[in-house]
Amino acid sequence: MTAFVGRADDLAAVDALLNQSQQVNIAAAVGLGGVGKTELALQYARIQGDEFPGGVCWVRGVEPLEPQIVQFAQTHLGLTVPEQIENPLAWCCQRWPGEGPVLIVVDDVQDYGPLKALLPTAGRFRVLLTTRRAILPAGQRLELEVLVPEAALELLGSLVAGERIEAEPEDARLLCGEEWVGRLPLGIELAGAAFGAAP
Ligand SMILES: Nc1ncnc2c1ncn2[C@@H]1O[C@H](COP(=O)(O)OP(=O)(O)OP(=O)(O)O)[C@@H](O)[C@H]1O
Ligand SMILES: [Mg+2]
Repeated sequence: MTAFVGRADDLAAVDALLNQSQQVNIAAAVGLGGVGKTELALQYARIQGDEFPGGVCWVRGVEPLEPQIVQFAQTHLGLTVPEQIENPLAWCCQRWPGEGPVLIVVDDVQDYGPLKALLPTAGRFRVLLTTRRAILPAGQRLELEVLVPEAALELLGSLVAGERIEAEPEDARLLCGEEWVGRLPLGIELAGAAFGAAP
């Protein structure tokens, strides 16, 4: 299994931001996809899940929110959202079972405009939005950077037989570095497959 590497500071930053603001944006400091926004949100929800006794609701930002919420409410909240409700999320928030904070993750938001009016702005709810581009102001945003060199090598090491890296440590470093995959997690995964497969 791939290790989750190098994101202790980012996990702490997301936690601190969510303690200050109802909505927080994990954005990419680099233009490309694959820097690890979704993975960070996933691991945050997994590691800090206890902070949200009201539960974690994960939806995909590339698809309309309403049907996903209606489905989630039915499956996980025991709520049947009436048809023709304008904002199913607001309706669910008023009836959300249990107590304590709830984390709503909207992964890979493409168009924040229509979504903005649907998201909760008060109460127990914290919203974590991942996006390639920044959508929230600096105080509510983490700009996710590529991995530091040691973490990049650690990720490669979790994908490729250790002996292979020990035999060619300089190649491994070059492969992860600026001229190749630029310490981008997605790039390291792809390169790891090729590096590991080479004779
Ligand atoms: N810190 C990490 N440790 C190990 N693997 C990671 C890490 N970050 C990301 N990955 C892996 O790298 C790949 C790309 O990460 P992810 O899907 O989170 O990127 P993304 O920023 O959400 O990209 P996109 O903009 O395309 O949505 C995934 O397979 C993920 O599991
Ligand atoms: Mg993603």
